[in-house]
Amino acid sequence: MADVQDNLNGRRTVYSFTNRKVSVSDLEIAFKAASNAPCHKQTHPWKYYVLGEETRQKMLQTVISLARKKALEKGEKDSNSSEKKAVSKIIDVPEVIAVTTKLSPNDSFREQEDYAATVCSLHNLVLSLWDMGIGSQWSTGGITRHPSTYRVLEIESEKERIVGFLKVGYPRSVPVKNKKKVSEIRKYLP
Ligand SMILES: Cc1cc2nc3c(=O)[nH]c(=O)nc-3n(C[C@H](O)[C@H](O)[C@H](O)COP(=O)(O)O)c2cc1C
Repeated sequence: MADVQDNLNGRRTVYSFTNRKVSVSDLEIAFKAASNAPCHKQTHPWKYYVLGEETRQKMLQTVISLARKKALEKGEKDSNSSEKKAVSKIIDVPEVIAVTTKLSPNDSFREQEDYAATVCSLHNLVLSLWDMGIGSQWSTGGITRHPSTYRVLEIESEKERIVGFLKVGYPRSVPVKNKKKVSEIRKYLP
């Protein structure tokens, strides 16, 4: 029991990874935990796409153009280093997993509950990885919303929404984060 509490309280988002690959067998353990998340009406609205090298290469043109646009908007004279950083964030990470949730265009309540379930599943995945000493970073941005990402990943945007990329690998370092005190987030009612 203490191990579970330590896992929950000790997990941190990891921003820097070693070059060590994550084994498929460890990923499969974590996907099993992801698939055991709660979901109302048994909709199992989550899906995980593990991006191989070829797929990541196909995304680079968009990654670079988004980075260039952002750099220009920020007034940078030369966007080269921003572009390099953006490419590195996709190419140099041991694993990148796109996470999607099922869309229900005619049922906004179902879609909201499904999104909640997908986040439960994603966090099961994250905690299972953490239990094996593997870190992750949930990442959202222009690239996770761009139509070309949907095209490259062969995801139908009318049926699924990418809720983020999970960058996964062995931590080079683990950040320290301040959290709210328990007394600030809970209230016992009479
Ligand atoms: C919906 C969501 C989106 C996030 N997107 C990003 C992101 O784009 N880039 C990033 O560095 N971290 C992202 N994070 C991670 C948060 O920054 C991180 O969880 C927060 O700083 C708290 O740190 P902790 O996870 O170590 O407790 C995201 C987290 C959530 C829940």
